[in-house]
Amino acid sequence: MAFSAVARALCLAVAFASTLSQGHPTSPKLVHERRDVVHGDWVKGARADAKTPLTLRIGLKQRNLERAEEFMNAVSHPRSETYGKFWSAQQVVDMFAPSDDAIAETKAWLLSEGVTADRISHSAGRNWIKVSSTVGEAETLLDAVYSVYENEDGAVLVACESYSLPTNVRGFVDLVTPTIQLEEREAVTRRSVVEKRDSFPPGFKKLPPWAHHPKPGADSLKNCSEVTTPACLRALYDIPPKGSAVKGNSYGIVEFAPQSYNQEDLNGFFSVYTNGNKVPNNTAPIFNGIDGGYLSPEGGSGVRGESNLDLCYAMALTYPQNVTLYQVGDSVAWNPATNNNFLDAIDGSYCSFQGGDDPVWDAVYPHDASTPGAYTGQPQCGVYNATKVISVSYGSNEGARPASYRARECAEYLKLGLMGVTVMFSSGDTGVAGLRGQCVKPDGSYTPVAADYGQFNPMFPGSCPWVTSVGGSALPAGGRVNDREVASYNFPTGGGFSNLFNLPSYQNSAVKSYYAHHNPGYNASVYNNTQKARGFPDVALNSQNYVTGIDGGFQLFSGTSASSPTFGAMITLINGERLKIGKGPVGFINPVLYAHPEVFTDITEGHNSGCGTQGFAAVKGWDPVTGLGAPNYEKLKKVFLALP
Ligand SMILES: *[C@@H]1O[C@H](CO)[C@@H](O)[C@H](O)[C@H]1NC(C)=O
Ligand SMILES: *[C@@H]1O[C@H](CO)[C@@H](O)[C@H](O)[C@H]1NC(C)=O
Ligand SMILES: *[C@@H]1O[C@H](CO)[C@@H](O)[C@H](O)[C@H]1NC(C)=O
Ligand SMILES: *[C@@H]1O[C@H](CO)[C@@H](O)[C@H](O)[C@H]1NC(C)=O
Ligand SMILES: *[C@@H]1O[C@H](CO)[C@@H](O)[C@H](O)[C@H]1NC(C)=O
Ligand SMILES: *[C@@H]1O[C@H](CO)[C@@H](O)[C@H](O)[C@H]1NC(C)=O
Repeated sequence: MAFSAVARALCLAVAFASTLSQGHPTSPKLVHERRDVVHGDWVKGARADAKTPLTLRIGLKQRNLERAEEFMNAVSHPRSETYGKFWSAQQVVDMFAPSDDAIAETKAWLLSEGVTADRISHSAGRNWIKVSSTVGEAETLLDAVYSVYENEDGAVLVACESYSLPTNVRGFVDLVTPTIQLEEREAVTRRSVVEKRDSFPPGFKKLPPWAHHPKPGADSLKNCSEVTTPACLRALYDIPPKGSAVKGNSYGIVEFAPQSYNQEDLNGFFSVYTNGNKVPNNTAPIFNGIDGGYLSPEGGSGVRGESNLDLCYAMALTYPQNVTLYQVGDSVAWNPATNNNFLDAIDGSYCSFQGGDDPVWDAVYPHDASTPGAYTGQPQCGVYNATKVISVSYGSNEGARPASYRARECAEYLKLGLMGVTVMFSSGDTGVAGLRGQCVKPDGSYTPVAADYGQFNPMFPGSCPWVTSVGGSALPAGGRVNDREVASYNFPTGGGFSNLFNLPSYQNSAVKSYYAHHNPGYNASVYNNTQKARGFPDVALNSQNYVTGIDGGFQLFSGTSASSPTFGAMITLINGERLKIGKGPVGFINPVLYAHPEVFTDITEGHNSGCGTQGFAAVKGWDPVTGLGAPNYEKLKKVFLALP
């Protein structure tokens, strides 16, 4: 990815040859964004050459986001008179798109500084203004100093430490790229899924074809604390034995390259773990490929693990409901697709010029054809409808990207909620620490892997208040299926408090009550203890030892990667029940969940350790380990069926 900033800039050198203007500032400039630390392993080098071509992209502020909470409550709070009256895509665009003034003022400023009109353009959704420029001109426009940064992998990019904008333009602008952004890209699960190879059923692995597998106790409930199966999950949460194919219902699972599923592995799983609702051989998800999305021919848990796990359970628990697979990104590993590339595909108004919301952090298309497997088409904008429920088992450290980037992505989840889509994310698999156990040092940078000091490191998008964050629970070791679950212990489940997002009103009394009755025992230098920050997760479900078809056999997977698709399946079944009686989908569910803690089995044992601490403890009521607890399907269904 980092290479691309330079490579792309070089291509543009042919496109224009403008001399630098001297700049005639219209109004005084003020610092707009500043970076205090360098994350990851970037090292600052020499000053960038003024003549280096640079394409500046100015992300304009959307309007009315300050009313997010009011809008969301209106359609998703159980006591709202307009519950379930979701918005159309056009209503969303009309409410949030940047104003004509924002575009006019920004263009006027650029023209006044000598940028010629032919070098300025704006994106279809009006969110971005693009300026074909040079490092030297950008330094003048933004009162910035650009340097060349390099990392250990030899990636190179141009960035500055701060930049300024005229006072009359600042109010219209979220961010300008490339400026202070230094990237660090990771997925929750690509590296951190806890895995027990070949552990179940013993000796099965090398026994294809699947049809010849014996089926010892595949539907038995006797060993659910050691091996989680569809039968165990149905028993744990009162999930009905069968789903139904309801017209208009849909459920989407998102996977990012190089992860992709293998049909034979799914076949093997479906043939053994039937649980009275056998998914027929060769049943496949509806394939929605995005920006070169493909099914990898490779095996191994690093490629198939996440995808096979998500689809085995999403499909087994909802069949005959169709499940949609959003398979995102091509095989160009240095410029991998992100959540924003996925969001572009289901919301054309979000798309920027080259795909992704942010050309520094997201994959930018077309990819150069010289890389094998490159997607050389245009970025896919608005090519698919969003499914009614979307589950994603990927995430990253909240602080690894600028606050403005996080805010824009989070606002997209708000919009999906307003349109009636339920979006859920795994809460993370490293407790209060971030990816690979990293914590935050006093200067804001990250500690080495699994450090025993530092500040807690919340995970995004679970820390965004407009998604449902799904944590992990487990049956106690040696426990029976009807025992009360505890916080997951094969791995510490992700949870804590955001450093960026405010406490949403739906969570207000739950968090207040948590602090009123419990002292987590850490001060402000350890985590955001202001009691004004979004706490996560919202719920927790079993997330240990999910038996999964993979590489011609079975393996057990643990992680919140497992619990999110399971909860997604439950909400999909509930949507089906609502559609059958002429009601709409449930959309953003958090306000309903927090208004009905009685539909959950509270989890009060365990903790989510990290950063050399025990993390937080699971306690009575909501907590930043297991949220409201584990949902009971029948009770949850009753609540949602009673709503308009
Ligand atoms: C339960 O599953 C574990 C893990 O596969 C296995 O070692 C054990 O024998 C199983 N126990 C029973 C009673 O089936
Ligand atoms: C599933 O279908 C494939 C392809 O038709 C076949 O090779 C395989 O044997 C079938 N598996 C089962 C378990 O029936
Ligand atoms: C499920 O998907 C298949 C393939 O796209 C389609 O033919 C079928 O009509 C779908 N079923 C329902 C109930 O939507
Ligand atoms: C999206 O949904 C609309 C309205 O239901 C429908 O007309 C359209 O064909 C769908 N588009 C795709 C790509 O499925
Ligand atoms: C704590 O969260 C609040 C609300 O999101 C935020 O305004 C504040 O800056 C955060 N404090 C720290 C130290 O991160
Ligand atoms: C916070 O607690 C840590 C130990 O947990 C201590 O080292 C530090 O001095 C405390 N900071 C403040 C501001 O009290």
